[in-house]
Amino acid sequence: MRYQWIWLCFCFLALFLQPLWAQQSPENDRLAARASNLLSYIAVDYGDAIDEGRLLDTELYQLQQQHALQALQLVQQLPARPGRATLEKSIAELGQAIEHRESAKKVRRRANETADRLAALYQMQRSPAHTLPAATLAMPLYRQRCVSCHGEQGEGGAGGPDLQDATRIANFSLYDLYNTLDPTVEGAHEGDVDGTLSAWQRWALAVTVAAFSVEGQLPPSVDLAERYPALVGLPGMAVTRPVELPDDAASALMWWRAHPHLVRALEPPLARADGLLRLAVTDYRGGDSAGAYHKLMLAYREGYLPLRAQIGARDEVLITQLQARWQKLRRQVLTGAPNAEVIASFQDLRAMLAVAQARIGSPVGNERGYLWAGLLFALALTLTLGLWWGLRRRKLSRL
Ligand code: HEC
Repeated sequence: MRYQWIWLCFCFLALFLQPLWAQQSPENDRLAARASNLLSYIAVDYGDAIDEGRLLDTELYQLQQQHALQALQLVQQLPARPGRATLEKSIAELGQAIEHRESAKKVRRRANETADRLAALYQMQRSPAHTLPAATLAMPLYRQRCVSCHGEQGEGGAGGPDLQDATRIANFSLYDLYNTLDPTVEGAHEGDVDGTLSAWQRWALAVTVAAFSVEGQLPPSVDLAERYPALVGLPGMAVTRPVELPDDAASALMWWRAHPHLVRALEPPLARADGLLRLAVTDYRGGDSAGAYHKLMLAYREGYLPLRAQIGARDEVLITQLQARWQKLRRQVLTGAPNAEVIASFQDLRAMLAVAQARIGSPVGNERGYLWAGLLFALALTLTLGLWWGLRRRKLSRL
């Protein structure tokens, strides 16, 4: 009994002290967020500065060049790690593409890819773990803090851009919108606009902003949610930029991310588990094992538990293996096991959950249904033909 207590204390210490020696510091987070903000603005604004090699707005064009340079300088201040040279090269190439006045699409893609690479390399957490609130939640805050520049319904004004402009807003991921409200980032806003906003308020405001450009639109059809399950849940909904998607997915995502509280029911639980596990991996890699543990448990409770019985009914062996994987991972995260081991366990669990998804969601049952229906139809046809043939012969023989 006493050993158990010692063991428990050790686990708690490991869990709460680890962030202290985490590789990711708030200063690094700030530098990475600022660089990401600059890259996102290049992606969004470059098309207004250059059109097919023609200069439309000299000042805006020069600003893009400065942004690329600043992004490079910020990345150079981040701790060196394998992959940073490639990231720097990618930003330098972006600078050259701007220099050569390449097409807006090319520059946008390059800027967005570079931002994604930066996020992966520096474990940027670009999504919350909990479902986002309705757009109305932050509306009072919006009225208080944002209306003076962006207008009552986001229509814009002298002080700030039009937030109803769907073409422009489609360039931003929800995270990019959230990132424009980062008080430490010295980006779009002065400190007095976003200085006291909590992370959760910023996410809620990002949803409020995302809702302006889809106001009054009908929800996308449900089968789109089946086709793009990653976009109805986190982190997909938060990190994906609609402009990079096929048209149907882009307009669906614009609506979904403006109504996250309604979309939640469309998300398959195992997709939620997978999304949370991906977030947990990012936390763990960044040295935040408390965050990783929280997300791991959330994935278990909200993604896996609701389906455990259903999976068990199809495949008992799989459920035993899954239980063992969850427990192993939980222990590893609690005791602060080495990164490589924990990441391998996460991958293992995610792969096994994909198998579970295939078991419960596989169309095998339907195929069988079709097979039976086909057989019955063939049988009925044979009987009818047989009957018809028999009657005909009788008639003929009577004649
Ligand atoms: C003092 C005026 C002002 C206030 C107040 C203000 N903004 Fe802005 N906002 C701007 C300007 C100017 C930009 C454009 C910056 C740029 O293009 O570099 C901007 C950009 C944005 C963007 C990025 C969209 C785009 O098209 O560039 C979002 C999102 C945004 N603001 C949301 C908000 C929210 C939410 C609030 C309230 C918390 C707020 N803003 C308050 C002036 C303001």
